[in-house]
Amino acid sequence: MQRLLFFLAVTTIFIVLTFVVRFLMRQANKKIWQKRWLDKAAFHYPYLFLLSLVLMILSASLARQSLMMKVSITLGFIFLLLSITLLLSFLAVFAFYFGFKLWPKINKNTRPFSSERRRALKVTASVAPILLLGTSVRGFAGAFSKVQIPVISFHFKNLPTAFENFRILHLSDLHLGYYFNLKELENLIGELMRQNYDLVLITGDCADNVNQLADALHLIDQIPTRLPKFFSLGNHEYFRDFPRTLRILEKSNIQLLRNEAVTLVHNSSKMRLIGIDDPVYMGREITSFLAKFLRKATNGNEVESFNLLMSHRPQALDLAPNFGVDLVLAGHTHGGQVGFNGRSVFENWGLHKYLWGKYQKGNSQLYTSAGVGHWFPFRLGCPPEAPVIKLKQG
Ligand SMILES: [Fe+2]
Repeated sequence: MQRLLFFLAVTTIFIVLTFVVRFLMRQANKKIWQKRWLDKAAFHYPYLFLLSLVLMILSASLARQSLMMKVSITLGFIFLLLSITLLLSFLAVFAFYFGFKLWPKINKNTRPFSSERRRALKVTASVAPILLLGTSVRGFAGAFSKVQIPVISFHFKNLPTAFENFRILHLSDLHLGYYFNLKELENLIGELMRQNYDLVLITGDCADNVNQLADALHLIDQIPTRLPKFFSLGNHEYFRDFPRTLRILEKSNIQLLRNEAVTLVHNSSKMRLIGIDDPVYMGREITSFLAKFLRKATNGNEVESFNLLMSHRPQALDLAPNFGVDLVLAGHTHGGQVGFNGRSVFENWGLHKYLWGKYQKGNSQLYTSAGVGHWFPFRLGCPPEAPVIKLKQG
């Protein structure tokens, strides 16, 4: 019910948005460009969006995860991106247009509109839509860009000497079945195999198409490591045939940590690895759910000299100092999918903390991965990634 209401609300917003865009586009065209084709395109714009929406609903009810579903979701997102882009563009065009018209009234010395000035107005008014459309196309192309493999070092005063230069391959948010498939995973693993890892950790949202999960886990299991590989759950594991996902995980060599901890021994030194569940839909209550999971996971096991936490949600950092956690590895946010200089541009908007990269709270540190995959085909300045976490003393 909650999901249906959310879907209806989002759909209504999109439909209203397309009609607003149509209105602005036609008004701007009437006042500035006077092109018949632009007027026609604007007229049909909301109906094309509605068509892609009908396709999306039809394909969802006929066969989930089919090619038709993928195509219609892509079409729907293209329309959403286009609508937002055009809305911003035409608002900019109007601001510019009225500014241009009002200026002679404010500044009496300015001459009225000459034909050159009118031409300049038309050209300048075209810049905003072209620039924003170009940015959207770049963002859409970025969703299909190569997965980066950055090596990220973290320093800890309490790190046992045995763990110096310990390397963890952190895989998160593969979202297999949307815009990342088994063939691409195979290629990525081929590239990842060029480096050595001590540990491989998967922090949730692995497969949206559960049919691909067993093969994906088998592929990941081919990566040679000194220690076993571990998996913690994300919200999308719950969205896609959860009982079957659990059965596949149980049969796999990759160990699922569901609100539990294990002790890893490396060169005679110990590390505690904790894996917590995902609170699925929770909004503001996320932290209290994560605290409950952490209490359960840490109950009855000893705090080691180094403690590592796998949590799909990066908000676990807020709790990490109270549970003696030194490092949290998380995902879920996809880095907000728009970044600049290694940080999400949505970082300080108050919607979500810890969107992408390194963070610290007390003596606890966090890395939020931008994820290997995504379900929303847009990435700008925030490429898909499979980070290698390197532990260092100091
Ligand atoms: Fe997620």
